[in-house]
Amino acid sequence: MSHAEDHAGTRRDFLYYATGATGAVTVGAAVWPLVNQMNASADVKALASIYVDISGIEPGTQLTVKWRGKPVFIRRRTQEDIDSARAVDIATLTDQSSENANKPGTDASDENRTLDEAGEWLVMMGVCTHLGCVPLGDSGDFGGWFCPCHGSHYDAAGRIRKGPAPRNLDIPIAAFTDETTIKLG
Ligand code: FES
Repeated sequence: MSHAEDHAGTRRDFLYYATGATGAVTVGAAVWPLVNQMNASADVKALASIYVDISGIEPGTQLTVKWRGKPVFIRRRTQEDIDSARAVDIATLTDQSSENANKPGTDASDENRTLDEAGEWLVMMGVCTHLGCVPLGDSGDFGGWFCPCHGSHYDAAGRIRKGPAPRNLDIPIAAFTDETTIKLG
């Protein structure tokens, strides 16, 4: 078991893997089994997308899915989370870039980090930007995530606030395809 999986296995968060036997996550166009069975080339793997059913995620909880071999956090934030993340002065942040692949070159305001305008949905790679551990949800000093490996604290928008991590948690290409489905990739 890898270090990352070990951490993921102890999380309190509601946990599903895209490759697991669950109806909650739908694999897009059977790309994933094809990749696994046929040892597809790197460019085919890079294109692999998954569709995630988010209808069961309650406010204040997160779903973790495995995508391209890494955990992705899909967090449904409470109004309190949204308010606290939007009250932060970005001039005080370690990393003032949104680190959002959907909005390249934008600043780290909460509005540039969330998937929807209202700020309810936050989709991020669950990989600490220090050395790659999986941060723990509902943890740390800033109402977000905490990476226990070397003590990095992320806020409710996944922005690094304290500790050795140099960057905010990365936001992958993601989009709603309907009200209850998010496509990753
Ligand atoms: S890997 Fe997260 S703090 Fe070092």
